[in-house]
Amino acid sequence: MAVPKNEEIKRGSLTAVGTGIRVIGQLTVESIASMKNAEKLLYCVGDPIAEHVVQSLNKDGAESLFGFYAEGKPRAETYEQMIQRMLECVRAGLKTCVALYGHPGVFAWPAHEAIRRARADGYEARMLPGISAEDCLFADVGIDPAMTGCQSYEATDFMINGRIIDTSSTVILWQIGVLGDWSFKSGAYDTSSMPLLLERLAQYYPANHQAIIYEASVFPGCAPIIRYIPLFSLPYAGVTAASTLCIPPARSPSIDMNIRMRMPQSCN
Ligand SMILES: C[S@@+](CC[C@H](N)C(=O)[O-])C[C@H]1O[C@@H](n2cnc3c(N)ncnc32)[C@H](O)[C@@H]1O
Repeated sequence: MAVPKNEEIKRGSLTAVGTGIRVIGQLTVESIASMKNAEKLLYCVGDPIAEHVVQSLNKDGAESLFGFYAEGKPRAETYEQMIQRMLECVRAGLKTCVALYGHPGVFAWPAHEAIRRARADGYEARMLPGISAEDCLFADVGIDPAMTGCQSYEATDFMINGRIIDTSSTVILWQIGVLGDWSFKSGAYDTSSMPLLLERLAQYYPANHQAIIYEASVFPGCAPIIRYIPLFSLPYAGVTAASTLCIPPARSPSIDMNIRMRMPQSCN
């Protein structure tokens, strides 16, 4: 949303950056610059190496947002508190940077919402892209979305909101390890809804269709987890909060000959 006209740009600002999935190697130069130059660097990252790197980039200004999480606490409540903290710093006139793991705006609502609210209040706010789990998946599993198309859904959203799958496309389901659980858990999440996810997937795929459980490595030099499983075994596949499900196409696309024949020869 554009900053309202005639509104004075206030001194505080907000920049959201991503630390990548593997902070060593996936931090962009512009994200590093934003983190270093910030007067306040808020962060929420998932591993100790990332935390150390972020802190060392801005020793005086770094502050973790992780403390807003608590066992069993609804994640929506935690996200609202994170947003409030970001806006508090911006309103105090500070050049504020928030660093989130992966891409700061991919399956990550708080940065988008904080930017919207900061802009609505007349502050400068922007997001810089980062390397997401999906980017790592394309590289590690060897998938080019240009070849098959690609549908990305949050797993619970797919399950309950009647989302539609095109089985000629690659399908990526995020957050399969926190299925239907809106709260934070430091250990294992309740995945008892997994059979319901299977039920939804069975509307599209045969039970033995091969899928991939994927986990990008967060540490340099370590291999990713890429496990091929038949879909029916998903409830027993030991998925974690960091697992992403990738479902390769089950069929070729059907060509629309009517459109194809009306295109210039050079496209055929
Ligand atoms: C709240 S989203 C955060 C995504 C993150 N912003 C990004 O850009 O990748 C969490 C989900 O991202 C995916 N994810 C996070 N870390 C991952 C990893 N190391 N490997 C594969 N998928 C991962 C999983 O689907 C997980 O449930």
